[in-house]
Amino acid sequence: TPQLVTNNKLTSSVNDLFGIFFEDINHAADGGLYAEMVQNRSFEFAPIDKQDYQSTTAWKLSDPESLKVETANPLNTKNLHYLSVDTNKDVTLTNVGYNKGMYIEAGKKYDFSFFVKALNGTKNVIVRLTDADNTEVGVPTVIPVESHQWMKYSASFTADKTTTTGRLTLKFPEGSHILVDMISLFPEDTFNHRKNYVRKDLGEALKALHPKFLRFPGGCLVHDGQLDPDDRGAMYRWKNSIGPVEQRPARRNNWGYNQTLGLGYFEYFELSEDIGAKPLPVLPGGYDPHHDREAPIDQLDEWVDDALDLIEFANGSTDTKWGKIRAELGHPKPFNLEYIAIGNEEVGQAFFDRYPYFHKAIRAKYPNIKIINTAGPFAAGKEFDRGWKSARENQSDLVDEHYYQEPEWFLANQHRYDSYDPKGPKAFLGEYASKANKWYNAVVEASYMIGLQRNANKVGLACYAPLFCNVDYENWGTDLIYFDQKEVSPTVNYYVQQLFMKYQGTDNVSYQLNNLPAAKVVDDQPLNGKFFVQGDKAKAKFENIVLDDGSKKQKFDAQTVDHEEKAELGSTDAKDYTITFDVTKPDQDAKGTHFCFGQQSSDKWCVWILGG
Ligand code: AHR
Repeated sequence: TPQLVTNNKLTSSVNDLFGIFFEDINHAADGGLYAEMVQNRSFEFAPIDKQDYQSTTAWKLSDPESLKVETANPLNTKNLHYLSVDTNKDVTLTNVGYNKGMYIEAGKKYDFSFFVKALNGTKNVIVRLTDADNTEVGVPTVIPVESHQWMKYSASFTADKTTTTGRLTLKFPEGSHILVDMISLFPEDTFNHRKNYVRKDLGEALKALHPKFLRFPGGCLVHDGQLDPDDRGAMYRWKNSIGPVEQRPARRNNWGYNQTLGLGYFEYFELSEDIGAKPLPVLPGGYDPHHDREAPIDQLDEWVDDALDLIEFANGSTDTKWGKIRAELGHPKPFNLEYIAIGNEEVGQAFFDRYPYFHKAIRAKYPNIKIINTAGPFAAGKEFDRGWKSARENQSDLVDEHYYQEPEWFLANQHRYDSYDPKGPKAFLGEYASKANKWYNAVVEASYMIGLQRNANKVGLACYAPLFCNVDYENWGTDLIYFDQKEVSPTVNYYVQQLFMKYQGTDNVSYQLNNLPAAKVVDDQPLNGKFFVQGDKAKAKFENIVLDDGSKKQKFDAQTVDHEEKAELGSTDAKDYTITFDVTKPDQDAKGTHFCFGQQSSDKWCVWILGG
């Protein structure tokens, strides 16, 4: 019977501990969470985003002579490209969507819209939804366009067939001279029924996790880019991502595609609210470590102002400049921002020279906002030194650590946070994963999360990464939720995350187990017959080892192993056997909690022993 040794209440900070991290990687936003079904809706795709992109990517033009992308007469200064239709015959323009095509479902409604400038009188544009074989999946709609100024036209379709190869086709009649832009198609049924918003099934998958916070809009994509916010390759500047979608400039996403910013800061705040998570935005610190580009210190004000204005946008009353903008966008109530992060995975001194300017300005104006510093990606031997030094000097509330490691690393580091200072800044484990979407990895992550929970007075927040992957556009191998245009496949790791978010621990209990029953290993894949023991950070002493194969008992010599040392005990040809042993940790205060015992094939062991 286990004996209860201690029972301590977990610190109240455990309340926010487990959340999610959203980044537009693997087409997580465009072609993913963002419910827009048209790819390259405003003809802004360009080789700066991806080498083989061009302004007509994802479009099929029936006659390239009379359908041309131009820039002389743009919809606005942020959206320069549009399609000019100038034709003396009927022509068609077809968008193929993402994946194999759009997912269109019988009985569901779809909202179509486009901006048009009709240069030579009223023309009837026919809008069709079809499958890849050009079979209608809804009744075509005729939209008479007549405005000589850019104007938005809309229509709604009800599909009468289901397809996963959907196409949107616009047919322009002979004699048209029309400019078109921002050609858009959304399912009417979005998550929480909001316009310009999130795919229902993916939004629901997030809500079902019960995340306590939402870190957004990224990792690397936040700080990779030019300093000038008007540059086509600019860093992620939040002010570019709010307001009418046709006025949001497309940007180069460092994951090798185009980011429309259709899903922008306002939508991320709404999403946080809709899924019950606290918003946690990440802003660039005026420094791009990918290209070693930095804003001169005497020009840092605009970057610091971005942070201050964002807090006002989220929390300010409607009498403030940015609070008023939030209200005009449809959310008069504040979003109750509590956290803000500056920088992502920073190791460059240029960042740490700039961080204090952000920190001081935010602390002075908004003393209750928790400011998150960053400590770079994990690199053996470096252990995030600069970030922690900066965090201590500036008294940051949290420091963002990232690591993607093998499961064995997570097992060996179960006690990583035991030695962290509860009085110092807290750790924010802003990105982690054990590098595979397998049952074993998920269990290892669960055991690691227990270590995070146990140390909730030192670890403030933690989120797995990356969150989403569109199966046809993978940038990063291990993700929490896979999807295509139709289906959602949460991984086994997802269910571990869900378990911890849904049922957050309240008490830290420790038990002692006495008189353990012998373990029975059933292994129908005979290994090489040899038995090994291996230590980890702790020294392990294996004694009284007896193997009983039914006909005879074999004794192995006692072994003490330390620090990844491995010792061979002997071998057996038996397929079924019982083995008993005692294992102790001679150095009681040594760190490290796992030992390996058993047969080994390559790096896989048939028995692991975990213990304090
Ligand atoms: O999660 C994927 C990437 O990993 C993030 O963008 C970055 O912060 C890290 O390197």
